[in-house]
Amino acid sequence: MDERDRALVTELVSGTQRWKRFLDFYIAGFSHRPLDKVSPEVLNALRLGTYQLLFMGLPDYAAVSSVVGTLRARSHRGFVNGVLRAMARNLGHVELPSLDDCPEKYAGIRYSFPDWIVRRYFERFGMEAALSLLKVQNHPPPVTLRINGAKTERGLLLEKLRDAGLPAEPGKLGISIKVAGGRRVSEFPGYTEGLFAVQNEAAMIATMVLGPEHGDVVWDMCAAPGGKTMHIAELVSGTGFVVASDIDEHRTGLIGESKQRLGFDNVSTVVLDATHADKAAQALRSAGLPVCFDKVLVDAPCSGLGVIGKHPDIKWMRRESDIPAMAIRQSLLLDTAARFLKPGGALVYSTCTLTREENEEVWRRFLDTHKGFVPANEAITFDDGVTVFEMENGCGYLLPHIHGTDGFFIAKALKGQG
Ligand SMILES: C[S@@+](CC[C@H](N)C(=O)[O-])C[C@H]1O[C@@H](n2cnc3c(N)ncnc32)[C@H](O)[C@@H]1O
Repeated sequence: MDERDRALVTELVSGTQRWKRFLDFYIAGFSHRPLDKVSPEVLNALRLGTYQLLFMGLPDYAAVSSVVGTLRARSHRGFVNGVLRAMARNLGHVELPSLDDCPEKYAGIRYSFPDWIVRRYFERFGMEAALSLLKVQNHPPPVTLRINGAKTERGLLLEKLRDAGLPAEPGKLGISIKVAGGRRVSEFPGYTEGLFAVQNEAAMIATMVLGPEHGDVVWDMCAAPGGKTMHIAELVSGTGFVVASDIDEHRTGLIGESKQRLGFDNVSTVVLDATHADKAAQALRSAGLPVCFDKVLVDAPCSGLGVIGKHPDIKWMRRESDIPAMAIRQSLLLDTAARFLKPGGALVYSTCTLTREENEEVWRRFLDTHKGFVPANEAITFDDGVTVFEMENGCGYLLPHIHGTDGFFIAKALKGQG
């Protein structure tokens, strides 16, 4: 596909996913058939058509014919044509539930989120903050780049990107750059030479909280595709070393690709299941790698609610019932990390989600069952000199509506010498 077609398909697919619940509510207002009686093929055609009418401002004939033409059965074509034409004649004629009478229902439809996430956000943040969070998370964030400090600096990279016509701006941290617009990152100048990595600032902060230093031997336990691994590799420099492990073989291969592109030879990758400490030790030993580390990062698999802005499919794929099993796995990963850390070493636990079960509760359980660990608080001030990431009892949140980053939970503890 050429650049324009690719951008159009991306917008259609991610936009339709992002707005799915809102679109369904809108469609239901024009369909004489209940939507649960409409086949997925037909419903998706309706969603795509409605998205084009409402959000892309396409002329009626173009929006309708583009989706009707994809349907095989004549009856389906007739139905979709009828609903979309009725909608096009009455654009804007749909009434949302009232914010005053049923705020959660309103928010779920207006910002297109499932009820269970809305309920959790309301309970946790209160109505006003929950509405801001839902609103922010319903927009794709701009691309954020982390400068590869081993090869360039921010001013030089900004100039290079702007020279290529890209709207690049300094990011929130001294090491970050924001680029708006939908161009493919692999086509940005400096990509092939490894001058930057694509990474959200929240992820950069997780590594900053870990605080890798020259000469450290670090285990990045759940490392693929290697975003944080490369940042750590840069900070420990040539004298330090990163072991990057992951359970997924294919994804572990991606770490190797980043390592090549960004130019770090102080990273070793290994495939292992870190929920089994003994097996993990065996895998590390057979790969000739250390089993004792100065620092360990557990960037755990999680329910991903903090990155919905970038990955709207999470809203519909994730189930609330997935959360307890995630929390059990996260606790097991932390148990392994504790065992492989040197006395005096630092452990960081991070997730890109916003549920208590996977964050505060996992962290509290860890501290309760590992008495030798002492919570450590760090504070990171953004470039604006005002916004701060703060920690209490060794943990804290980055929030999209407050920090303007992905949603992340970051916790840190130091292992006692005893
Ligand atoms: C949030 S992602 C890691 C992102 C990565 N740290 C980065 O910055 O690019 C979580 C990773 O944990 C891996 N994972 C899941 N279960 C695991 C296990 N039992 N042992 C090791 N890795 C695991 C997943 O394959 C996934 O790649």
